[in-house]
Formats: sequence, C-alpha cells, structure tokens
Amino acid sequence: MINVSILGFGTVGSGVYQIINENNKELEASTGRQIRVKSILDNRKSVNPDIAAILAEKFEDIENDEEVSVVVETIGGTEAAYDFVKRALLKGKNVVTSNKALVEMYGSELLRIAKEKNVAFLFEASVGGGIPLIRTIGDAFAGEVIKEIDGILNGTTNYILTCMTEEGQSFEEALHKAQELGYAERTPEADIEGYDTGRKIAILSSLACKKEVKFSDIYTEGISKIEKVDLEYAKQMSMAIKLCGSATVDDNGDIAAYVCPMMLDRDNPLYMVKGVFNAILLEGNMLGRTMLYGSGAGKLPTASAVVSDILSIIKLGNNRLPIEWSEERAKVLPMDKTSHRYFIRFKDVDDKHITRCRRAFADSEVIRLEGLDEFAILTGYIREKDFNLVSESLNDIIKFIRVR
Ligand code: HSE
Repeated sequence: MINVSILGFGTVGSGVYQIINENNKELEASTGRQIRVKSILDNRKSVNPDIAAILAEKFEDIENDEEVSVVVETIGGTEAAYDFVKRALLKGKNVVTSNKALVEMYGSELLRIAKEKNVAFLFEASVGGGIPLIRTIGDAFAGEVIKEIDGILNGTTNYILTCMTEEGQSFEEALHKAQELGYAERTPEADIEGYDTGRKIAILSSLACKKEVKFSDIYTEGISKIEKVDLEYAKQMSMAIKLCGSATVDDNGDIAAYVCPMMLDRDNPLYMVKGVFNAILLEGNMLGRTMLYGSGAGKLPTASAVVSDILSIIKLGNNRLPIEWSEERAKVLPMDKTSHRYFIRFKDVDDKHITRCRRAFADSEVIRLEGLDEFAILTGYIREKDFNLVSESLNDIIKFIRVR
C-alpha cells in the first residue's frame, strides 16, 4: 500500500484526490501497488464532507506519519508550501508539487535535499499543466543538448489574444470573459503581465542548461498593451500575436531567456495554437525540433500530471533519468544581446517620415491599414541593442512588437 498525503484541497488537490479514487484500479494495474490518499491538510473551514474523516489537524501529523511516503503539495505560494515541502523531504518523504512559484524560487535547494535524502522531488504539473513536458525533457532529451525552448505557456493570455483576434474584442472585454470562465489566476497580473510565463520559462531554462535560472533575471513583458489594431496589422500580414516564453542556450552554456508578445509567421508551428491551449517547441542538437501541445491548465489535466509523478515514484523510485539542475546560477544574457525582426507603429503618415523610417532599418517594408492615420514598418533581423539605438533617433513611435 502506498500512502499519499495531499497538502491543500483546492482545484488541483481535489483533482488529485478524484483521480486516485476514480482511476484506482488503473493506477494499481500500472504500478502493482495499491494507492490511497491517507490524509489531507487544508485550513479552510468548509470542507468537503467526503474527506472529513481523513483531514489532518496539522502538518506535523503528516510529517510524523511513517506510513506516508508521498506528499503532494498543491497549496501554492512559497510560504507554507516551502516550509512543508522542505520538512517532508528532510523526513525522507517523496514530494510532488504543481507549484511553479515554489519550484522557480526554491527548486535548486529542494532538489539538493531530495538527492541527499535519496527521495524524489517532482514537478511535472508546474509547467504546461497536463502536457508531459518536464518528463520529456528529462527522458527523451536526456541525450540531447537543448538549444532552444519556445512556448505558449499561459492559457489565459492565449485565450485573450484568440478572442481579440477572432471576435474583435478589446483587451478588457477578453480579459473579463477569461475571468468569468475561471481561466485567469487569482490576480490577473500574474497571467497578463507575463509573470506566470516567466516562472515557467525559468524552470524550463534551468532544466535545459542544468543551472539555476531565476525569473528575476528574465526580461518579462505581458500583453496588457496589445490593442485590437495590433491584431488587425498581424492579420493583414498573415501573422498571429502570441505571448511567448523563449530560451536559447549558447555554446558556453549561457542563456538568453525572455517573455514577450511575439508576432508569429503563419509557418511557425505556434501560430495555430488557439484558446487556452499551450504548446512548446523543444530543439535538441541531434533530434531537431519537437512540439508538445495540450491542456496547460485546469483541474484534471494538472492533477493528472501530479498523479503521473506519483506513479513514476512508485514504479521507478530514483532509477528515473534525473530531472534536476545544480545550485550554480546560470548567466542570463541581457535582452539587448538578442536579435529579432520588429514590427513598429508610427504616428503621422507624412511621406518623408515614412521613407526616413523605412530607410533606418535594413530589409524593412511598410504596412498600412486602410483608414488609419498611422503606418507600420516590419524590419529585417537586427540586434535589440541596435534596434534601440536606431529607434531612439526616430520620432512618433507608438509601439513595437518583436516578430519571429
Ligand atoms: N493561469 C495559468 C494559465 C494556469 O492560464 O495558463 C496554469 O499555470
């Protein structure tokens, strides 16, 4: 019998409980072991009557319960979650979490403790929800040098941008709809300002370069300034705007990682990812490109990823290929060392101004939308540092969006 304790009985925690109960036979068939949820810790007063009998009074009861070998953390945040996870690992218990903030902030330390204690600290559900992404990096890419990761890692913002594109909604209208449908996180800023994507790309970057990449080192720009008219320009150019989290690892192991809205060409595989779906392109030095696509959020997809980690612990213990990174801090290159094409909108449609702006950038073209008192330029590839220098010398820039 494998005894599991769940910390936090919110959306994901209750989903884990549901899967362990409803799919119990399948779980037993695939591991050869019976699995049960022995205890649940949740500080909310109104608890589900089904779980009243197994509610723990305090974390110490779980920490000191020698029968519990797997602790699932779905509390969220980095306070109680960090304290409980660390203590569970120090007690020699395996831990599975869906908490990206915890993994991003304390992952290096928790991975080290898990190794010292010869237990597992797994976090498949922390990035990409139900998409088997972290395991793919750990297993299928174990013999590869990961050169690039590029992904739509946040369902809420992808949903908002899809509504703006397909239904002509304003940013505010689309955000409101996303909130009504329960997609947005507790605070919409985490989604719309790119922080959620930033934490996720920090975790993926750490896995790719095997060193610690901190969210605070990652350039992060959200979608709150994207307007309907930007999407109209994108449509005219047969492009889509997506919030992308990207990381490239150079030959020295240094990393360029950033989060920002990107205009994507129609031939980019991420172009067709719509609604709340997530997709991630992984590029290995031998394998080339692979894309993973699926449900990046939601109760059961996320809980399913948690359960898959539990099964991996039961079946493989520490005979898995390692999913880890060291405590050494990776060197994250500043944004001005990256290169992109740029879409730039300018006020004023004076012919001389248009010519001057177009000539300022090599290989650029002018884009006009009928009836607008403005124009736009699509540049060729240029280093961000040079782009900043040139654009400083030009008047009347409304905004720019990077293009891939
Ligand atoms: N708010 C996140 C999203 C949930 O919209 O993708 C999963 O981290």
